[in-house]
Amino acid sequence: MDLPMDLSTVQAAASRIYVPGGCVKTPVHTSSLISAAAGVSAFFKCEHLQRTGSFKFRGAMSAVSEVALLGPETSAKGVVAQSSGNHGAAVSAAAEAFGLPCTVVVPSTTPAAKQDNVTRYGATLVLCEPTQKARVDAAAREAGRMGGAALVHPYNDDPVIAGQGTIGLELMEQVPGLDAILVPVSGGGMITGIALAAKGLDPGVRVIAVEPEGKRLQEALETGRRVVDEGTGGRMLDTICDAIRTQPLGPRAWELNLEKKLLHPEVLSISDDEVRAAMCLTMSELKQSVEPAGAIALAGLLSPAFRELRAREESGGRPIRKVAVVICGGNADLGVVAGHIQKHQEAAGKGS
Ligand SMILES: Cc1ncc(COP(=O)(O)O)c(C=O)c1O
Repeated sequence: MDLPMDLSTVQAAASRIYVPGGCVKTPVHTSSLISAAAGVSAFFKCEHLQRTGSFKFRGAMSAVSEVALLGPETSAKGVVAQSSGNHGAAVSAAAEAFGLPCTVVVPSTTPAAKQDNVTRYGATLVLCEPTQKARVDAAAREAGRMGGAALVHPYNDDPVIAGQGTIGLELMEQVPGLDAILVPVSGGGMITGIALAAKGLDPGVRVIAVEPEGKRLQEALETGRRVVDEGTGGRMLDTICDAIRTQPLGPRAWELNLEKKLLHPEVLSISDDEVRAAMCLTMSELKQSVEPAGAIALAGLLSPAFRELRAREESGGRPIRKVAVVICGGNADLGVVAGHIQKHQEAAGKGS
């Protein structure tokens, strides 16, 4: 757990994930209309086009490839994941790629599209109560039942964080001279990995978290308390972004951030209405269908808070002109996507 984590760890993960049946390098899309609206050059990293429909496949391939390297006796016991869906599908697909048995635990509230995405790659699906504790307990039980299978945590394991960091490696190559990267955050594995890679290559690039309202990450960073309110730390956030409902940053992401000052101190907090508007824009302008969490970084780009942050950075002599926006996933029931789009259209007075 506590081996050095830096650019070289992410590069090592990159050497394992682009294998046949493994990860693809995702494209970067642009839109002159969105760039003009945001007042910056915006670059959209299309992780919803990663295999399994989200960036999670990177971390899963990185972690499962390490299990496979442990030799047939250990790896034959297989892998277990607990997840709101995307990580589960990713570990299922990675296990299939390496020929390992796999069980995935998901909360019973997980959208049907995400449940189907787990089973289509061959994993056994186990439903549990929608609490963090129920997920962890059920995963431990399943690992024991499989004779000691390896648990692949969605965001707290170094190989997973390093795998997610390959987004940062690709971005820095695809968009030279980036000033900032906007990253959706939940347990923080993705943003930590991206920051390790991007800041390892260019310490000046700002890595800015975009969260659903109520997460209070900025307050956590300011006060130095990972869990700002002990009473609510275990509760899931009330947001339409079903993939990013974990309230505190994970312990490993927190520790790495304290040690290396990875995250920008300001966090963009986004409402459900802003996410719905960004989903519509993603569909109408970028011509991409994404899940709610997949649109939150675009909502962050267009938020008043980001405009103010840019003004402060500009007056400090560090302007933000080139911005990458991570579209992290596209796995959603079509009816749910349609419902969000209709709700936004009605609110905007455009009817259905
Ligand atoms: C689509 C999507 N975006 C963002 C995240 C957040 O990732 P992390 O927990 O590494 O912050 C997740 C996590 O499940 C996800 O599925």
